Amino acid sequence: MRKFLIAGNWKMNAAPDAAYKLAEEIASGWKDNTFSSEALLCPPYISIPAVAEAFKGTAFKVGAQNVHTENDGAYTGEISTGMLKVAGCEYVIVGHSERREYFHETDELVAQKAKKVIDDGLIPIVCVGEVLSQRKEGIHQDVVQRQVDAVLNHLGKDESDNLVIAYEPVWAIGTGETATPEQAQEIHQFIRELITRHWGSESSEKVRILYGGSMKPDNAEELLSQKDVDGGLIGGASMKAESYNEILKISETI
Ligand code: PGA
Repeated sequence: MRKFLIAGNWKMNAAPDAAYKLAEEIASGWKDNTFSSEALLCPPYISIPAVAEAFKGTAFKVGAQNVHTENDGAYTGEISTGMLKVAGCEYVIVGHSERREYFHETDELVAQKAKKVIDDGLIPIVCVGEVLSQRKEGIHQDVVQRQVDAVLNHLGKDESDNLVIAYEPVWAIGTGETATPEQAQEIHQFIRELITRHWGSESSEKVRILYGGSMKPDNAEELLSQKDVDGGLIGGASMKAESYNEILKISETI
């Protein structure tokens, strides 16, 4: 049985009360905690303590959706790795396409964040992926290569155990449209090869590569069955206990 990372991204949804309820509902689907995949939910900052509380005594983990590169200081509106750790986070999503697009995060900034997260003992989930026009132009591999290289240039091979990359074709996020399993595998394999070029094949096998973009119970099995798909980063379908748990269950059968 493969061990997947099944990560939910709640984006700007679920205030603390709703987040607590949803987390409890998810965890109550697994009373005996008998899953071998790693299960992670990433609520908005303010709901992290509530979700951590709801997951107490379970195997579920909590993560954040973003972080700043400094430890503390005059950075109004920002949050640090140290604060996230105290709140119970183990993972941080970095460079989600919505942050790249709406908050102008550059490859360089995303790479700095990934480095900071790893240095401070958390695990970054670094998002990469092309927009529709880039895929139509046939330059999706170039885009992904630029995004992945920027991050790998800041890290060393010893950090491969603690690096997660999520391939999220932007045209598949929140659209209901999913990459075909073949399209996903092609890019995942390409990302694996890029890592091999930097760090060699042994280290490259250790990096987990998630697929994200309208993953749901209906398509999870064929996506997760691809050789280089090590899990999912799930938006919409992680907002309902039933569909998140269904995907987690599917991951247990592969
Ligand atoms: P989606 O979002 O599953 O709703 O497409 C995925 C993501 O943005 O991480």
